[in-house]
Amino acid sequence: MSDEGERLTELAKRRGFFLQSANAYGGVSGFYTYGPQGAALKDNVEDAWRDRYVTREGHMEISAPDVMPEAVFEASGHLDGFDDMIIECPECGESHRADHLVEDNTDIEEAESISTDEIADLIADHDLVCPTCGTELAGEPVDDFNLMFETNIGPGSSSPGYLRPETAQGIFVEFPQLAEYARNQLPFGVAQIGKAYRNEISPRKSLIRVREFTQAELEHFIDPETDEPPLERVEDVTVPLYSVAEQESEDGSVQERTIREAVDEGIIGDEWVAFYLGLSKAWYERIGVDMDRFRYRQHLPGELAHYAADCWDAESELGGDWVEITGFAYRGDYDLKKHESHSGEDYTVFKQYDEPVTVERPTVDPDMSVLGPEFGGAAGDIGAELESLVERDPDAFDGDTVTVVVDGEEYTVDIEATGYSVEEVTESGEHIRPHVVEPSFGVGRLVYTVLAHAHTTDEVDGEERSYLALPPEVAPTTVGVFPLMDKDGLGERAREVASDLRGAGLEVTYDDSGAIGRRYRRQDEVGTPFCVTVDYETQEDGTVTVRERDTTAQQRVAIDDLGETLTALRDGDLSFDEL
Ligand code: GLY
Repeated sequence: MSDEGERLTELAKRRGFFLQSANAYGGVSGFYTYGPQGAALKDNVEDAWRDRYVTREGHMEISAPDVMPEAVFEASGHLDGFDDMIIECPECGESHRADHLVEDNTDIEEAESISTDEIADLIADHDLVCPTCGTELAGEPVDDFNLMFETNIGPGSSSPGYLRPETAQGIFVEFPQLAEYARNQLPFGVAQIGKAYRNEISPRKSLIRVREFTQAELEHFIDPETDEPPLERVEDVTVPLYSVAEQESEDGSVQERTIREAVDEGIIGDEWVAFYLGLSKAWYERIGVDMDRFRYRQHLPGELAHYAADCWDAESELGGDWVEITGFAYRGDYDLKKHESHSGEDYTVFKQYDEPVTVERPTVDPDMSVLGPEFGGAAGDIGAELESLVERDPDAFDGDTVTVVVDGEEYTVDIEATGYSVEEVTESGEHIRPHVVEPSFGVGRLVYTVLAHAHTTDEVDGEERSYLALPPEVAPTTVGVFPLMDKDGLGERAREVASDLRGAGLEVTYDDSGAIGRRYRRQDEVGTPFCVTVDYETQEDGTVTVRERDTTAQQRVAIDDLGETLTALRDGDLSFDEL
């Protein structure tokens, strides 16, 4: 783990951000418990996400089950294609992620996009060894390993289920009903914040690669023919882009472009994806991602998920590595089509035309009094095939006869017996299958990034100080309230102040233990942006000291104004300088 990672893990455990779960029983890799500070920070990040991607965009939010039946994942493709590359050590039996072994020990990046055979060759060519026991791995097979956790629904094993590997499927599978809720009006978005599970071969890097995690996903359903994103809202936003072309070029680099330039130059191929990249940049800044440690990287062709036509990741730099914090994928109609064909349900929406239109519709009306005697038992299937053929290929009915294939056998039918005709029909609309644009955020990775990027040291009163420069909106606690000393009624007054501030809807910590300087440091270390101190002057004039975390500057504020002032400071409606 990097120095930054070690520092953060130590702070996270000591101060209650996160810790490995079930440590009393030795712990299990890839499972973490968020402590009081971490749970509050995570909640605040989720609230900021909900505010940005649900409330302000007018989308719907749902909450689907974590366990879903096998049929869902047969349809979605996860049962067949949701794999990582695994190699097992012949000596100690430990399993490793084969592409990560290559990345960690060679100059090769994004090895996930390389085939299993090539990865096996690279392991042999570079004499790579088992990281656990040092045994040579050359010649060992590299296999696909499915990442889903399997379970049984109810007693027995007749009804297999899986912990969902992405929250998205809980949205896709309910699409017919969700479209009704949206009154069949495209475009509309459905969001979900919830747990997802992946049985990672080698979980690592703390919260970065875990087996149980929280996703915040938005599935935006659009008509690809007519719906356009409101690009004008973000077209002037400048974003750092690391395209496939730049990644594949020897001296390629991250390019700064406005969203409009990136679309016009064809760097970002899809305008909806471009819209979300533009919209999201300000949101990352809002929650405290350092823009000097941030980029958007396009997926290499071999790296694309089985459902994605194009994908850009938002990445943050952590301990020298670039880590995905969001995937922005264009999923097309892959998922809805799959669920339609596997379930037999209708996954389209009916799109009303502005005006009814009259169209020519070729139809057949097979004459069974001719087909029956001629083809016997096959006549029914031949009739059905004629009805299907006229929709698929009306030109097949241009000649004197039509040939259809039933159960591998060809039958030639006289055109008269097909009842072929072209009718004029008036249509009020059509059924279309929407396409999907998906911004998918990893909440734990965002929390980790925000903590890592917020961690700062400076010098205060001749001593090194360590603090988290978290934006007030996401900081676990907004205000620390202290009495200067717990005597002469100061403690009582401070407890009253803390209680009133809680009543005003602020996150408050009360602390009267130890020297005031140490209390400030404790709050600095967990990122509390403001501290309020009740002192002897309070008893004289009803004011308290408000201290700002990053500058350590102090101002006196009347207790009567305190709730309003701190709320305005938290919400960014007031700056500390303006006090
Ligand atoms: N829904 C995208 C993902 O889970 O990767």
